[in-house]
Amino acid sequence: MDMHLLMIGLQVVHVGMASFWLGTIVLSDVFLWPAMQAMGLKTQVQQGLLRGPLAKTMYVVATGTVLTGYLRGWAGGAFDHLYSLYGVFFVLAGLLGVFATVWWLCGRARAGPGRTVWLCSMAGMFLLMIGLRFTAP
Ligand code: HEM
Repeated sequence: MDMHLLMIGLQVVHVGMASFWLGTIVLSDVFLWPAMQAMGLKTQVQQGLLRGPLAKTMYVVATGTVLTGYLRGWAGGAFDHLYSLYGVFFVLAGLLGVFATVWWLCGRARAGPGRTVWLCSMAGMFLLMIGLRFTAP
């Protein structure tokens, strides 16, 4: 198989899913939840959404982002460069990705300090992606 084509395909899926994941978080936290809170609807809407297709979609998108991230790294030779800044960023992103997904699945990311920890892990992954871009071998 052409590794270059595979890498491009994985990057398309990875960046697509990651943008969706991060985009929904920014939309919810910056605009939707504050507006819902002001109307006294936040908890009701969140519970309704958890019962609908959004929860399943987010499950696929979160695990898909992390999985395609690992695969994109593998296809691009990241495992041959683990002892470099690029490798460190890659490993940190991988750990944060698993942490963020498990934390969210355990229901710890919904509110309060648990949500703050989770948002920090998402912001950390975003920064690590920029780091990967500029340290790629
Ligand atoms: C919030 C989660 C994530 C977001 C928003 C995200 C976003 C992105 C974006 C936009 C790129 C393209 C960078 C560029 O070419 O300029 C990228 C590349 C990449 N991502 Fe992610 N990503 C996330 C999570 C992960 C995780 C968890 C991993 C590892 C398991 C990962 C591994 C990679 C790799 C290896 C590349 C290619 C870097 C390169 O060599 O140029 N990503 N990601």
